[in-house]
Amino acid sequence: MAKERVLLLDTTLRDGEQSAGIGMTGVEKMEIARQLQKMQVDIIEAGFAASSPGDFESLSNIAKEIEGPIIASLARAVADDVDQAARAVEHSKRPRIHVFLSSSEIHQMHQLRKNREEVMEMAVRSVERAKGYCDDVEFSPMDATRTNPEYLFHMLEEVIKAGATTINIPDTVGYAIPSATGFGQLLKDVQANVKGIEDVVLSVHCHNDLGLAVANSLIAVEFGARQVEGCINGIGERAGNASIEEIIMGLDTRKDHFGIEINADTTQIYSASRMVSRITGMAVQANKAIVGENAFRHASGIHQDGVLKNRSTYEVMQPERVGVPGNTLVLGKLSGRAGLQSRLEDLGYTLSREDLAKVFESFKVLADKKREVTDRDLEILMDEEKRTATEPISYTLAHVQFTGGDQGIPTATVKLIGPDGESITDACTGNGPVDAVCNAIDRAIGTESKLVDFNVQAVTEGIDSQGTVTIRIEKDGRHYTGRGADTDIIVASAKAYLSAVNRQLASDEESDVPALGSTPD
Ligand code: KIV
Ligand code: ZN
Repeated sequence: MAKERVLLLDTTLRDGEQSAGIGMTGVEKMEIARQLQKMQVDIIEAGFAASSPGDFESLSNIAKEIEGPIIASLARAVADDVDQAARAVEHSKRPRIHVFLSSSEIHQMHQLRKNREEVMEMAVRSVERAKGYCDDVEFSPMDATRTNPEYLFHMLEEVIKAGATTINIPDTVGYAIPSATGFGQLLKDVQANVKGIEDVVLSVHCHNDLGLAVANSLIAVEFGARQVEGCINGIGERAGNASIEEIIMGLDTRKDHFGIEINADTTQIYSASRMVSRITGMAVQANKAIVGENAFRHASGIHQDGVLKNRSTYEVMQPERVGVPGNTLVLGKLSGRAGLQSRLEDLGYTLSREDLAKVFESFKVLADKKREVTDRDLEILMDEEKRTATEPISYTLAHVQFTGGDQGIPTATVKLIGPDGESITDACTGNGPVDAVCNAIDRAIGTESKLVDFNVQAVTEGIDSQGTVTIRIEKDGRHYTGRGADTDIIVASAKAYLSAVNRQLASDEESDVPALGSTPD
């Protein structure tokens, strides 16, 4: 008998983007969508069309280009959102509209400020409207795990009658408990009490507020869920969503337990993880399951001894299964283009001939300064290449100079090249070197923003290490992240600050993202 299949819905580009302090450009979203296509997830929730013109545009570009996975747009249960979602995915070969509406009393009373009957009516009407545009309609009763069960069952029954084809049970606030009497019981009850549920796909969407998102997703599979939603690296609102790579590897490694098929190409996981971390600026903790730097490293003598004799002594899955590069090739100044290309591909970069030639030039410059060019160096190098090639660049840094020390007043001089190729030089003092550099850039451009986060990381050990600076600035309540790398920290800071300012300047035209739980008047 054929095994049953669990569909994987990746929402890195929608719920993942709701992580505090991150924002992705359309180009970056497309890059991630292409990687998710390679990873063969079943559904890509590529955005929330009504949230901003930028999101609408990137969604519709993804819908036009990406074939294979279903492309979904989120929509609140209001006509305009549903219409915009439909238009954004209309060019996909496999479009989906995902309508959501709060079902819990807490949300209905305090956020929606509508009574149960009004909310029920909105749910049904919006699913019917979505159905008028496309066959594939998902419905999510937001905050399902804190909803009165009778009301939840009634709502689900009504939206199924209205045409929903996937019923998603969101644990919006990460409240569920992964046990047979907890989340497992809720899924059992949904299946026992909702007429028509056997004709639709039952899905779950778990948040990680109590650190239980993956556990809840997996127990849901045991109790009948046949679609699971998650994000790469577990990013997302607050403590994030279920890590999709952990769900995938749980189902894959413990096939014996779950007896379930999935479609994903697990060997693309590592590249996807690195890519999302690089694009969002959200580091992956070293001990993170599946994709953390230490996930396949063995430190203690006893463990090393075991692994050397047979890897299965301390490894439940092989690193190759998730695409972790073997690291057998040492890259340095004698390395050639083919070696560089192969390592870059391992790290999730596919380059055209011309781009490879450009990157090879920068690689040679770096290799001249460094004995060994590591994976982290390469990621930084690619970040810099990409930043200059794709970032909405109004200003580039030509030169930065700093004078200071413990007696002098920290003073920075910057030379920038402006949008029309003009060169602008200015100088300013500050509380310290970074402050002085940021002030000098602000003065040169004539902008002002608040620095809210400054993070410097040595990329590798050793005196020849590169440093990466990540800077977050705030302007009019919105945050923009910038990164820069160099062997000189002041130069890296200037690059990072300028990159954040460029992003802010480019997004000035975009409208604000509405709150997810809000409904327009
Ligand atoms: O967490 C949540 O409830 C959501 C819904 C919009 C599915 O993200
Ligand atoms: Zn969510």
